[in-house]
Amino acid sequence: MELPFRIDLTGQVAVVTGGSGIIGGMFCRALALCGAKVAVLGRQAEHGEPVKEDILRAGGEAVTVSADVLDKASLERAREEILARWGKINILVNCAGGAVKSAEIPQDQFADAQADMPNFFTADMNNIKKELDLNLYGTLLPTQIFGAAMVGQENACIVNISSMGAYGPLTRIPGYSGAKAAISNFTEWAANYFAKSGIRVNALAPGFFQTTQNHALHFNPDGTPTPRSRKIIESTPMGKYGEPEDLIGALLFLVSPRGSGFVTGVVLPVDGGFHCYLGV
Ligand SMILES: NC(=O)c1ccc[n+]([C@@H]2O[C@H](COP(=O)([O-])OP(=O)(O)OC[C@H]3O[C@@H](n4cnc5c(N)ncnc54)[C@H](O)[C@@H]3O)[C@@H](O)[C@H]2O)c1
Repeated sequence: MELPFRIDLTGQVAVVTGGSGIIGGMFCRALALCGAKVAVLGRQAEHGEPVKEDILRAGGEAVTVSADVLDKASLERAREEILARWGKINILVNCAGGAVKSAEIPQDQFADAQADMPNFFTADMNNIKKELDLNLYGTLLPTQIFGAAMVGQENACIVNISSMGAYGPLTRIPGYSGAKAAISNFTEWAANYFAKSGIRVNALAPGFFQTTQNHALHFNPDGTPTPRSRKIIESTPMGKYGEPEDLIGALLFLVSPRGSGFVTGVVLPVDGGFHCYLGV
């Protein structure tokens, strides 16, 4: 992996939830290349092994830790494991999350639903609740558990992951959009709450990136773009999907004490201009 620029995180300890995912794994590698010791956190530690192995091969330090971001006891165990190993936590990246397939409403507008087609009225609200829980509580709970160990640490900072759905609801995914809007709101809340305690809290709002979780929504089984994918490209002033690597520079800026030491409560879009274009 090539870093867009280098910052010095030597001696710092970073925890990345969803560290085995596409974006989380990339963040783990980037933080390690800057010298941080990285805890790759996921529900099943073994899924983080390839990320850990990459980091070790590149001469960095990493460990896989198993925890479910919705399970307080498992997060507490993870925190104790990390503290026992490295003695502190400086950086938390709340990257676990994503859209839940079963919570998707299958049409943009109710008028498009054919008779007998699943729609908002037939949707199982438990699936939408799962999506809200994963994204919103899956950010609040790790912030509570790991944040408690970060107060007073050098360069203590938290980076949450919001989305374009936070600026206005994306069609078909009301649960995901609502949860990400709440994450942006929580980022601002926590920025104030921890401001005098030395923890900076910011968020990234990625635009559209091709990863495993959204592939089926954006591409047909034969690889051709879905109508939704075409709309995304038309609505992105830069006219393309982002590469996950485009997020690295923004992450490094937000965790750099020299680069963003006076920045807190910011939700930084990395989106080719999607958030500022209404289509006309
Ligand atoms: N891909 C995009 O275009 C895009 C756009 C905007 C925001 N995001 C956000 O970026 C983040 C990472 O997404 P990604 O695209 O890398 O997806 P991904 O599916 O590759 O990664 C998500 C990770 O979260 C983990 N996870 C899920 N539930 C968990 C739980 N209960 N406990 C612990 N870990 C859990 C998964 O195992 C996986 O490792 C998500 O918050 C997603 O909403 C992605």
